[in-house]
Amino acid sequence: MIKQNDQIELKIEKLTYEGSALGRYYSDETPEGFVVFVKNAAPGDFLKVKINKVNKNYALAQIVEILEPSSKRVKPFCPLFNACGGCCYQYLDYDYLLEQKNNMLKEAFLKLDEQPEFLEPLKSPYDKEFRHKIQYRVSETKNSKRLLIGYFKEKSHDIVNIKFCPIQPHLADEIAQYLRENWTFGAYVEKAHKGLLRSLILRLSSDLKSALLTFVINLKKDEFSCYEKDVKDFCVEFASKFPQIKGISVNFNSDKTNNIIGEDFLNIYGDNFIYETLESSDFKRTYKISPASFFQVNPFCALELFNEVKKNIKENSTVLDAYGGVGAIGIWVSDRARKIYLVEENPQAVCDAKENFKLNDCKNYEVFLGDSKEQFRKFLKEKKKFSHVIIDPPRKGSDREVLELLSKLTDCIIYVSCNPQTLVRDIKILQSFGYKAKTVRGADMFPYSYHIESVTVIERV
Ligand SMILES: C[S@@+](CC[C@H](N)C(=O)[O-])C[C@H]1O[C@@H](n2cnc3c(N)ncnc32)[C@H](O)[C@@H]1O
Repeated sequence: MIKQNDQIELKIEKLTYEGSALGRYYSDETPEGFVVFVKNAAPGDFLKVKINKVNKNYALAQIVEILEPSSKRVKPFCPLFNACGGCCYQYLDYDYLLEQKNNMLKEAFLKLDEQPEFLEPLKSPYDKEFRHKIQYRVSETKNSKRLLIGYFKEKSHDIVNIKFCPIQPHLADEIAQYLRENWTFGAYVEKAHKGLLRSLILRLSSDLKSALLTFVINLKKDEFSCYEKDVKDFCVEFASKFPQIKGISVNFNSDKTNNIIGEDFLNIYGDNFIYETLESSDFKRTYKISPASFFQVNPFCALELFNEVKKNIKENSTVLDAYGGVGAIGIWVSDRARKIYLVEENPQAVCDAKENFKLNDCKNYEVFLGDSKEQFRKFLKEKKKFSHVIIDPPRKGSDREVLELLSKLTDCIIYVSCNPQTLVRDIKILQSFGYKAKTVRGADMFPYSYHIESVTVIERV
């Protein structure tokens, strides 16, 4: 049996969901092959690896030497790829990586007895500069107090100071660099839980004409007054250098937590929102997005995804957009619907959604603020039925009670998911209520990560 620190040779078979790759070690004791997960490996690689940890059913290992590289390997395009924890699999050709990610999606579905039809996955229209929402951690160096702005190194809280990131527009690098050179109010040091600026959040519109900034600071809202005037003056100066900056807000997060944002926001410069316009050949929608509201990070792929949802909505239907956010999907499909209902628990997103329906001249809509479960119960009491329900929950998916309520409200669920594991778990629950997954289409919202978005059409049988 293999042990920690052993060095073994291994052929890599496939990528696996958590950003690793899988090979099998064959021996007399494990003729069927003992599973070994290896970081930064590619399917087809023949490797010498060192075993770091052995569990009952698998081992974790690191590459010692690439004996024969996979034919799909390419040079990572980012000079910080090995240091930064922001991306994975950059050493694979984009099309091949998408194929592999789609295989991971298919594999998650193997937990179901009956397989849906897998449609060709949607590529991200761009595989560089696609990320338009950036959440950077901020800290400072010990002695010189220079600002560090970037992502955490993998499995650590050390910040990789990112001056150039090819998966986001260059404007983000320029804005971060200005802050690095000019912010004088100090930055957060996690170990001491002291210092002001702890994160920089940027949202850039897809045409790069608008930017919305949020400074997350280590204070409670009522402790900010002594900084307020100086930080406001700084923001006026900052925005004069970048005409794209339409608004700057402060978010207050003084908890000892990994969570990036806290609950309270304060707008300190310009607007408290930006506009994003998504446009395909014959269709265009504009969305107002506030700092606390969700919007997809990759607007180009979002558009493809929304079109995929729309294809599955029949003309003249009544559509419930549960987990609706600012109305991104509901408003995109509204020309197909007789009426759109939207449910969302974030009050800011609900305000945005209401304005967005008006902004896009949609007349027949109702927006409900609250938890989807509670709202579904109310719909049920009112004996409401929907031709289609779109659900797009966070990564943790939905739950049995919500899905049971949903089964009484519609015969057709369009499930938009960013997590194949919770998607398949929820489909299994829906099967027990008489539904069947008919088609699935993957969408590469997050190139060079192991995440894959998908749209699954689930119908009552
Ligand atoms: C993945 S986002 C999708 C938003 C929208 N469909 C879009 O594409 O922009 C999930 C949304 O569900 C909301 N949400 C999370 N849990 C919820 C719940 N229990 N009830 C209602 N909304 C919820 C979040 O605030 C967020 O806006």
